[in-house]
Amino acid sequence: MSADDFIVTPWHVEGDIDYDKLVKQFGTEKISEGILDKIKRITGEDHFMLRRGIFFSHRDMGRILDDYEKGTKFFLYTGRGPSGHTHIGHLVPWVFAKWLQEKFGVNMYFQLTDDEKYFSKPNLTLEDTAKFAYENALDFIALGFKPENTKIIINTKNIQTLYPIAAQVAKKINFSNTKAVFGFTNETNIGMIFYTSLQSAPCFIEDKPVLIPLGVDQDPHFRLTRDIAPKIGRQKPALIHNIMIPGLEGPGGKMSASDENGTVYTTDSPGVVKKKINKYAFSGGQPDIEQHRKIGGNPDIDVSFQYLRIFFEPDDKKLKAIHDDYKSGKMLTGELKAILIEKINSFLAIHQEKREKAKDQIEQFLFENR
Ligand code: TRP
Repeated sequence: MSADDFIVTPWHVEGDIDYDKLVKQFGTEKISEGILDKIKRITGEDHFMLRRGIFFSHRDMGRILDDYEKGTKFFLYTGRGPSGHTHIGHLVPWVFAKWLQEKFGVNMYFQLTDDEKYFSKPNLTLEDTAKFAYENALDFIALGFKPENTKIIINTKNIQTLYPIAAQVAKKINFSNTKAVFGFTNETNIGMIFYTSLQSAPCFIEDKPVLIPLGVDQDPHFRLTRDIAPKIGRQKPALIHNIMIPGLEGPGGKMSASDENGTVYTTDSPGVVKKKINKYAFSGGQPDIEQHRKIGGNPDIDVSFQYLRIFFEPDDKKLKAIHDDYKSGKMLTGELKAILIEKINSFLAIHQEKREKAKDQIEQFLFENR
């Protein structure tokens, strides 16, 4: 793979992603000023993840907003493949989904695909993925969702509800379609080959339009879903995509929950966060202080700065001050990292408390088969 190549699929992300190219490759649309204005008008707010292009692309967002203004509500759906503990990158689409839910007053479904991660990860048992599903659900609940309008779907537990929908989807997707989209081979296990129909199923769980906030790597599943939706008499799901969140070790590639050091988990202690950021967070600074003062740092490739931009510093003025000071060399890498460590640790202190409380709430969130 050459330096300007990149790969984005649900099971593999590699290289330095050119998002303009990706939009063309995938056939999505960039979020236009028109869409941004409409969201602002309806919600009365200018969300920093939209303003900063963390959510950068969509499919059919215009239709969702137009319908909403005419009185047709949508519902929200997103999910997580429970292959490990939750890391801070996972929270990005969930926090945004929470905001959408509040502003639009709509229902939310969260799918935990314990089967998918069992199929796709050779070393994980179904017990492992079920355990991680529980752990991930706690993080989701900790973000403040309410059981009245939010349900958590666990594939192996809710198969009774999902299966009749998945069957309708599966009948319309043939092997050559999914092979073309995912690159499956004769050696791919057939769980994987069927799996897209299960990720599609929640799109049709309510008789309303659906909007899915998601990492752009998940788009291929829903491209298939959108293709077949009219064939089963349903509307195409609408999507709003976020960029991939870099791992600590640097840009190019998403944070991987299986790489211990390249990842800040929501369960990490303040000491561990401090150690990981100081030791592993890829720096855009110069090799020594003298040069740094002279040349300055590069915030665009600096992972600590990117985490502030993507999640931890919603205030544009404060972010710009950090950006400019780092770039001019006035702020050193150690100082930038200290800011991020403080932000992450104060976020996690509250999150971990709510996560404990979620253990008593989880029952209320679990979807009941019907
Ligand atoms: N396949 C996703 C993952 O590996 C999990 C998932 C299920 C999902 N349904 C979804 C993600 C809907 C986004 C939207 O993380």
